[in-house]
Amino acid sequence: MITALRGTHDILPGEVEKWQHVERIARQLCERYGYVEVRTPVIEREELFSKGTGETTDIVQKEMYSFEDKGGDRVTLRPEATPSLVRAFIEHNLEHTLPSAKLYMMGPMFRYERPQKGRYRQFHQLDVEVFALSDPAIDAEVIDLAWRLIEALGIKQTELVINSVGCKECRPKFHEALLAALGDDLPKLCGDCQRRAKTNPLRIYDCKVPADQPIIDALPHSIDYLCEPCKTHFTAVQAHLTSWEIPWRISHRLVRGLDYYVRTTFEILGETLGAQNALLGGGRYDGLVKQLGGPDRPGIGFAAGLERLVLALPEDTTLATTPRAFVVAIGDDGRAEAIKLVRELRRAGLAAQMEYDARGVKAQMKRADRVQARVTLIVGGDELARGEVTLRDMSNGEQRGVVRAAVVDEVRKLMS
Ligand code: HAM
Repeated sequence: MITALRGTHDILPGEVEKWQHVERIARQLCERYGYVEVRTPVIEREELFSKGTGETTDIVQKEMYSFEDKGGDRVTLRPEATPSLVRAFIEHNLEHTLPSAKLYMMGPMFRYERPQKGRYRQFHQLDVEVFALSDPAIDAEVIDLAWRLIEALGIKQTELVINSVGCKECRPKFHEALLAALGDDLPKLCGDCQRRAKTNPLRIYDCKVPADQPIIDALPHSIDYLCEPCKTHFTAVQAHLTSWEIPWRISHRLVRGLDYYVRTTFEILGETLGAQNALLGGGRYDGLVKQLGGPDRPGIGFAAGLERLVLALPEDTTLATTPRAFVVAIGDDGRAEAIKLVRELRRAGLAAQMEYDARGVKAQMKRADRVQARVTLIVGGDELARGEVTLRDMSNGEQRGVVRAAVVDEVRKLMS
């Protein structure tokens, strides 16, 4: 038997309705906030992520699906969407062609991680990005969209955590303070942390090794080293969140695992999810567009893991289902009429099906039950003689004859 790869999943009926629900709500909200959809390729040049996501991140160091294609190009299955959307923003000059560069997309991402609940090798994100706006109100608006998404999905027991990681002006001072505070403890940290101390000390905060945690918990906080403009920005973001009645907590450890962040970072955590508890995460990345060869434009956004949103959906979520009609045919004449009727219903925009194998009425009725038909229509010799169809309302079992010409309207009434 050939099975799906470890860390990848088929999304089957029974589960897929939850995905459709999450995707529909996400789409509605994005449109309501003025975002337009963009779809970028799943495969990109490797350097987009090594430069964009950042050489010192775990993603680039350990988790990318990168290979040489048959033409000799180094390519990567995207591990995240932000660099792809930045590339598209630059490549298509979206700043000038769109009324405002507020973009969203949904699709699969790939990271070679150790799979566990909520963490997969192929997973899906809703990704939202805003380019060219630097006012703290836009940070708050992006966080508001994230917050409302969780609220609209009815996900409870969540917490918004925020932080500011400073900018290229104040970051070096913070790095110095980190290294100074580590001092003699540095050799006690894991190999990854020793490397991080050399390449990008901020990344030490990404460490998950239990033995390192007491040392890391005692390290200085980025918000104590912010320059004046970063401090003012962070204060303003918090003031907006307060006035919009969004509760939050500052988390000093929230430096996020990607290199491009400056100033605001945030995550929404779901308490029911276990170890992989980040429903979504994001932040500001003001230098990234320039770094990837575009104009010097700021940016901010977030991505939500669709698997995690689906996992956190409340049990009692009402999922939209399409009501169906099932047509039962008796005898050859009935069958010919049933085929006509199914086509007529479908053309009228209603979901209808029938059994094509000539089977007994009982077997067909069973099938109507299995497909959870809302209405069953029975067409046989008797009905044909009367110019009628027997209509059975499956919610209460009531059965009545309906004039053939009125069938579509009657079915529509019952299925609306
Ligand atoms: P990220 O924190 O790496 O950020 O991922 C965002 C979300 O994707 C996570 O909070 C989680 O819900 C989901 N996720 C990440 N990895 C996995 C996985 N292996 N399995 C299942 N779900 C996962 C980013 O990707 C940034 N591009 C977000 C961003 C957009 N920042 C600014 N704009």
